Amino acid sequence: MLRSHTCGELRLSDVGKNVTLAGWVQTSRDFGGLTFIDLRDRYGLTQLAFNVAINANLAEEARKLGREYVIQVVGIVNERSAKNPKMPTGDVEIVVNEIKILNVSKTPPFTIEDNTDGGDELRMKYRYLDLRRTPVRESIILRHKVAQATRAYLNLEEFIEVETPVLIKSTPEGARDFVVPSRMNAGQFYALPQSPQTFKQLLMVAGFDRYYQIVKCFRDEDLRADRQPEFTQIDCEMSFVERKDILDTFEGLIASLFKTVKGVDIGKLPHMSYADAAKYYGNDKPDTRFEMKFVELKNESEGIPLLGRGKEGEVTFKVFDDAELVVGICAKGCANYTRKQIDELTEFVKRPQIGATGLVYARYNDDGTIKSSVDKFYKEDELKKWIVAFGAEKGDLILLMAGGIDKTRKALSELRLEMGTRLGLRDKNKFSCLWVIDFPLLEYNEEEKRWFAMHHPFTAPWPEDIAKLDDEKTRGEVRANAYDMVINGVEVGGGSIRIFDKELQAKMFGVLGFTPEDAQAQFGFLMNAFEFGAPPHGGIAFGFDRLCSLFGGADSIRDFIAFPKNNSGRDVMIDSPSVIDEKQMKELCIKTTV
Ligand code: AMO
Repeated sequence: MLRSHTCGELRLSDVGKNVTLAGWVQTSRDFGGLTFIDLRDRYGLTQLAFNVAINANLAEEARKLGREYVIQVVGIVNERSAKNPKMPTGDVEIVVNEIKILNVSKTPPFTIEDNTDGGDELRMKYRYLDLRRTPVRESIILRHKVAQATRAYLNLEEFIEVETPVLIKSTPEGARDFVVPSRMNAGQFYALPQSPQTFKQLLMVAGFDRYYQIVKCFRDEDLRADRQPEFTQIDCEMSFVERKDILDTFEGLIASLFKTVKGVDIGKLPHMSYADAAKYYGNDKPDTRFEMKFVELKNESEGIPLLGRGKEGEVTFKVFDDAELVVGICAKGCANYTRKQIDELTEFVKRPQIGATGLVYARYNDDGTIKSSVDKFYKEDELKKWIVAFGAEKGDLILLMAGGIDKTRKALSELRLEMGTRLGLRDKNKFSCLWVIDFPLLEYNEEEKRWFAMHHPFTAPWPEDIAKLDDEKTRGEVRANAYDMVINGVEVGGGSIRIFDKELQAKMFGVLGFTPEDAQAQFGFLMNAFEFGAPPHGGIAFGFDRLCSLFGGADSIRDFIAFPKNNSGRDVMIDSPSVIDEKQMKELCIKTTV
C-alpha cells in the first residue's frame, strides 16, 4: 500500500503516530514561514503542515505543489492549535517529513470544491474531475448504497437476479427506440430495450417465480431534469400474485430503502385512484407533502353547478359561465399578496408551457371582508359561498382557473406546485409517498386517431371492465390493474398485473390497432409462450436514478449517474454520438450520412 491511512480517518487519538498518506492537493495556504496543504482522497481531507523553521527545503517543495498534484507524504500526526470543527479530521494535522510527487496535474478548468465555479458543460466535459468533488462523489456513493440495500431486500424475499439481453427487437409501442445495425444481417437492426418487460414475463412463464434486475434501459425521448436517454430501473416481476401482494412487497422494498439509506420511517402508503389524483391535484403524480387540494366550484361533467353565480338577469362572468370546469386552490395566509405578486402568478400561468388564459382571485381579508378580481359580477354574499366551499379562513387567498377540464386541471396543478414552493411547503427532507391506482387502460390520441396503452400493452384490464373494450364509446372507461408509486410529486415506479391469456392479449393488440399478422410478427414470441402454461403474474419497475436523486434531495438525476448525457443527449466527455468512418458504414450496409 502506498499509504498507512486514508485522508479521512486520523483523529486526536492518533497524535504522535508516524503515518503515510496519499492523495490530491486540494488547496495550499502559504503564510510565509508556514505552509498548509489540504490533502484529499475519497475519504476526506487532512491538513498537512510545513514549517520553514523546521525544514526549509521541504517547505519550499510544498510551496511548489500545484492543485490536483498526486502526492505521498510521510509525517507525524500532531494536535492542531487552531482546530476546524467542520472537518472530521479538523483536530489534527500532519507535520510532514517527506514528500513524493506521484504525478503532476495541469491546472483544472474549474475549482474542485463543494461549490465550483465550473458551468454544467465544462463539468460534464471533465466529468472525472467533477466526480472528485465531494457532493458529486457522495451522490455516486449514495447510489451504491441504494443498490446494495435493494439487492439485500430482494434477495431475502427470494427474488432471483437474471440478466436479460440488450440487443433486442424494435417495437412500435412506447417511446422511440435506439437501434443498432447488424453487420451479419445486412439491412437489419437490433433495438436497445426500453425496459426488459417482455423478457421478465417470459421468465415467469419459465417458472422463475420472482425476478429482479438493476438494469439499464434506453429511450430516445426528449430529456428533462428527471429523464436520461439511458437510465436504470429496479425491474421486478412475480408470479401467482394479485395487486395487493405486489403493493405490499414493494412498499416493503421502499420502506427498507428509506430506513437503511435515510433512517426514515415512511409508514403505510395511502392509495389514491387516478380519478381522485386528477380531481384533487390535477396530476397523476401528486405532491402530497402539502394539502392545498383543488375545490371545484363548477364541473359540468359531474353536474356540479357554478357556485355563487350572480343573480338571474344580472351581468354575469362569461368566463365562468362558459367554462366546463371552475376550480381553485386556497393559499393559506396569502390574502395580503400585493398586486405585483398576484400579477406574477397570472404571468406564471399564462406562460406558453402552461397556457392558461388568466387567473381569478378572492382575498378573504383579516377584517372578514372579501375582495376579488371579479367583484363586478359577484356580490359579497355570493363570494361567501366560495369561502365556505374552500374552507378558507381569514387571511387566505383563493386562486381560481376556468376552462376545459383537462387543460384547467393541468394548469392549476402547476400553480399549486408553484404556491407550494413559494410557501416553503416542498421540503426536500420531508417524504410523502403514495400509490396511485386504477389508471385508465387506454388513452385516445387525437393526432393518430387511435387508442394507445396508457402503461403498456401487457397490462391487464380489471376483469369487470373487459366487456367495455369491445365498444369504441366505452373503451376510455376501462380501468387498468396498474399502479404507480409517487414520492414528493415524482413518479418513482410503475407496474401492473399482466395479461396472461393469449386471447385477451390478442384482443388488446387489436384494440391498439394491430392486425393479427402485425401482432404475431411483433409479439408472437410472447403470445406463443402464453400457450405453454403462463402463470398469473405482475410486476413493477422503479426509476433507480430518480429514487437516488430523491434520497439525495436533488431535482436532477444527472449527478446520481457517474457519466450522464447532457440536454441534447450527448456525452460531451467522449464526444458521442459521433460519425463513423465509411468502411464501418459499408460493413453495416448503411448508405447515407446526414
Ligand atoms: P415505466 O415506463 O413506467 O414502466 O418505467 C418505470 C420507471 O422508470 C423511470 N423512468 C425513467 N427514469 C429516468 N429517465 C427516463 N427516461 C425514464 N423513463 C422512465 C420512472 C418510471 O416510473 N416495464 C414497465 C414497468 C412494469 O410494468 O413492470 C416500465 O418500464 O421512474
